[in-house]
Amino acid sequence: MLEVVRDPAAMRARAAAVRAAGGRIAFVPTMGFLHEGHLSLLREGRRRGELLVLSIFVNPLQFGPAEDLARYPRDEQGDLDKARSVGCDVAFCPSVEAMYPPGFQTRVEVPGLAAGLCGQVRPGHFAGVATVVLKLCHIVQPHVLLLGEKDYQQLQIVRRMVADLDLDIEVVGCPLVREPDGLALSSRNAYLSPQERQQALALSRGLRAAEQRYRAGERRAEELLAAARQELIGAPGVVLQYLELRDAATLEPVAGELDRAAVLAVAALVGQTRLIDNVILR
Ligand code: PAJ
Repeated sequence: MLEVVRDPAAMRARAAAVRAAGGRIAFVPTMGFLHEGHLSLLREGRRRGELLVLSIFVNPLQFGPAEDLARYPRDEQGDLDKARSVGCDVAFCPSVEAMYPPGFQTRVEVPGLAAGLCGQVRPGHFAGVATVVLKLCHIVQPHVLLLGEKDYQQLQIVRRMVADLDLDIEVVGCPLVREPDGLALSSRNAYLSPQERQQALALSRGLRAAEQRYRAGERRAEELLAAARQELIGAPGVVLQYLELRDAATLEPVAGELDRAAVLAVAALVGQTRLIDNVILR
């Protein structure tokens, strides 16, 4: 039975009761419009906790003024059906007013990790993410927090916040889920026209080209970047925002030869839609 909870105090009480009875709580925060990527996190969470909590909250704090907050895709009924199908126990769906009552002003900043990549293009975005994830964790009180490697920078920022602020939470990063043709699953794929959907494949093609070179033994950062760039530069309909090779743990730029795990990350506009993708080279 899936329980829908909208009131943060009621969610907190539900979580406290489970904790008092010795139960483990697994938590998957989302902005809804669920797809197989989200469901893979929920399935992993199902294995890791007695109480599996999903949150659905389109967080205004992480959208810039010119971004897609108002038109972000929503389908609560569909989401609840999907959550039920993977055995979720509680869907926490708070209102914006409940999360951000008048007078709200606190921000959680992880400035180093948030400086580059998406943080460069979306100022304030990761402070909005860290703030809402911390609030949600205080309400849901999870033992295990599951996040996707699709949003690799977000995952590292949340890991850093959990360590820095002494949260007693295990952060689990889950593999990126793709469509059969390679496109990384994203709620924002709903914005793409059929033509844009085809054009968007350049991102995963570029990453795959670099990954193949890596598997074949190539370790020179410039060569790996060049392999990906070749698919991306001049790809019709694709405006590249960044393509970068970073240390997988610290997100420091990598130059010269790769001697430890790295992430090759890309962001691009396809039409009006901003897409991100990455591959971990390890
Ligand atoms: P959202 O984009 O809905 O994503 C929720 C979670 O699903 C994130 O941890 C994200 O990395 C994961 N996810 C999305 N697409 C995925 C895919 N193709 N494969 C694997 N995992 C995938 O990320 C957010 O929401 C928000 O920033 C949030 C953390 C909820 C804070 O508001």
